[in-house]
Amino acid sequence: MPNSLGHEVNASSDYSNQWIVKDKMIWTRVSNSQISVFPSHDLMFKFGEIVVKIDLDSIDPITSDLDCLLIGLFEGEEEESSAIRRVRDLLGDSLKVLLETGEISGKLGNNVLIHSLILTSKTSTGLKRIMFCGLGSRQLFSVARLRDILASALRRARGAKSRCLAIDSGSFLGDYIGLRDVVEQAAQTCYTGLYRYEKFKSKKAPSRVKEVKIIIPKNEDTGSLIDALNKGIAIGESVNLARDLANGPPNVITPSRMAEVAEGLGSQHLEVEILGANDMDTLGMGALLGVARGSAQPPKLIIMSYFGNQSSEDVIAFLGKGITFDSGGLGIKSAVGMRAMKGDMAGGAAVLAAMGAIVQTKPKLNVIAIIPATENMPGGDAQRPGDVVTAMDGTTIEIDNTDAEGRLVLADAVCLALERGANKIIDVATLTGAIRSALGEQCVGAFGNSSNFTRLVIEAGESVGERIWELPTYEEYSKQFESDIADIKNSGGASGGAITGAMFIGHFRGEADWVHLDIAAMSRSLTTRGEIVKGATGSGVRTLVNVAHRLSQTPK
Ligand code: BES
Ligand code: ZN
Ligand code: MN
Repeated sequence: MPNSLGHEVNASSDYSNQWIVKDKMIWTRVSNSQISVFPSHDLMFKFGEIVVKIDLDSIDPITSDLDCLLIGLFEGEEEESSAIRRVRDLLGDSLKVLLETGEISGKLGNNVLIHSLILTSKTSTGLKRIMFCGLGSRQLFSVARLRDILASALRRARGAKSRCLAIDSGSFLGDYIGLRDVVEQAAQTCYTGLYRYEKFKSKKAPSRVKEVKIIIPKNEDTGSLIDALNKGIAIGESVNLARDLANGPPNVITPSRMAEVAEGLGSQHLEVEILGANDMDTLGMGALLGVARGSAQPPKLIIMSYFGNQSSEDVIAFLGKGITFDSGGLGIKSAVGMRAMKGDMAGGAAVLAAMGAIVQTKPKLNVIAIIPATENMPGGDAQRPGDVVTAMDGTTIEIDNTDAEGRLVLADAVCLALERGANKIIDVATLTGAIRSALGEQCVGAFGNSSNFTRLVIEAGESVGERIWELPTYEEYSKQFESDIADIKNSGGASGGAITGAMFIGHFRGEADWVHLDIAAMSRSLTTRGEIVKGATGSGVRTLVNVAHRLSQTPK
């Protein structure tokens, strides 16, 4: 079925299509759009020709034609490491010296590249480089650490012009990190760690990784490892899609473009609807339309429905703030404050991309994604401070500050989610600068009305390496957004700004369990470190996908 961009979309997400089993080796070619998780559209970053393979037969990496082998080492366990034993013959005395001097060690972040010169003097064919990666203490090892270490190692190997890499998965197993985890996270990290946003670069970087082999021990249950590999690839691609959208320039990533990308993910299992301004008007979405008034770009309301459990009435809604550029409106931001505002759709991008991974990994639950997409601009017809708009549920809202637009578009999205039968709602938004003051850049802020559901979301994030910290929603804060002339106003002032912003959205939640995730401080990074590559981070994708999987496993 051709999608809106004219590309052929593989509607079937049956895994069997993606796998070719040959000589005990199972592999997928991810760059080939016919078997890729996502349809090929020119927005997506192309990963060169990366192929992620699992070698089930524990090929001997020493004699295989590999540019680099990645080996993990725990602190204090260097000498007894079985991976070290395997390369001891090859490295001989040099390894002894390197270990004795402590140059090679399991210290967290330690990374030693044994160069081709040394190895090729010992073997004329086969392995060219070995990279030893310090994993730190075994007790503190986690999924997040594993990805950070692998991402840095993969980039270093790429920098050393390695094209065909292997990961010795056995050496990355921790007390709580099993083989499935290593395979899933390694596959994911091949995408996220090697990510580059090059769409507008006339000269693309020359060094490219072509192939990563994840070498596993013999006699493993391959079926479950293939699932893990698939899941890792789907999530890695999703995180990068979210990054592509938020890194994309705001004159390209318009509401219409986001809608096209969403339509491109549409398939037999994922229904995509795009509503325009007239439909919003019919639905009574005065809050969303008020924000859109100042912009020449038409607003789009993106709705993506996945029904993975037809026998259940339960529907979870994922809502994402989709402000493709936030100038502040008439309450215009400073030039500096506006600079990063192309990323004000990062929540919407996370939701959109998460749906891509969900439709691939098929959890058994029903999810509806809603992304209100518009610019916030100060055009001649822009809404004014003092205006009163009416949300879809009839709530009248006084516009106190045109720069508090995210909560307005999300208010109507919450109303629509309820109308569509959602009994659980998670909204993801770059909502406030105040969340950075509150929590810094180390975790996402969470707010909610149901302690069980909030805990589920926080734990789902924690276990996939996305830190989330809950802040309070005491009723007394709502005084701050009482209005003199309407039901409420859209700003609660400076104090507790992240809380009042969250509670404004929560005002519309009805009977549903609701969690708001403020990703404003986490959606963009100024530096490359570990799995994070400078620019958009894709924050929220992994948490949403994991929430879906956890809810799908909960017995009813
Ligand atoms: N998009 C901004 C929040 C933001 C700030 C995201 C910095 C990422 C980095 C949001 O629309 C906004 O302008 N919020 C205001 C709210 C205020 C006017 C009540 C803010 O945080 O100042
Ligand atoms: Zn905004
Ligand atoms: Mn704003």
